[in-house]
Amino acid sequence: MKKFIAFGLTSILMALTLFATGGCSSASQQTASSASGKGLYDSNCAGCHGATGAGSAAGTPLNAENAGDVKQVSDITRNGKGSMPGFARKLKDDQIQAIAKYVSTLPK
Ligand code: HEC
Repeated sequence: MKKFIAFGLTSILMALTLFATGGCSSASQQTASSASGKGLYDSNCAGCHGATGAGSAAGTPLNAENAGDVKQVSDITRNGKGSMPGFARKLKDDQIQAIAKYVSTLPK
């Protein structure tokens, strides 16, 4: 009987460990989605706005106050602004959202 209880406890512990591992893997998925925002930014925006959003001769700084919130960044990314082309045809909506979220994490 004691052995049986010990076995029961072991399975509960194993189940808890599996559960904890499951929690970890969903956290790393979140990291992956912000990484893809970064990847999309690096390939579509960094050429003009700089790798860290500091700007260049071809684009304004995005880490300054002027980048705005996630909605404003996604609107500008979709439609373009001044000499910046819109990305509505090139990027899907969820990609634009991912970029806008990434831009909002750049240091202000
Ligand atoms: C060809 C160069 C170029 C590329 C590529 C580009 N931008 Fe821009 N972007 C600009 C320029 C120039 C402005 C300033 C437009 C103005 O105010 O007339 C601007 C403005 C902005 C603004 C508004 C901030 C401000 O200073 O007015 C945001 C936000 C922005 N870009 C985000 C992005 C994102 C996100 C991407 C990638 C999907 C991107 N841009 C790609 C050139 C570029």
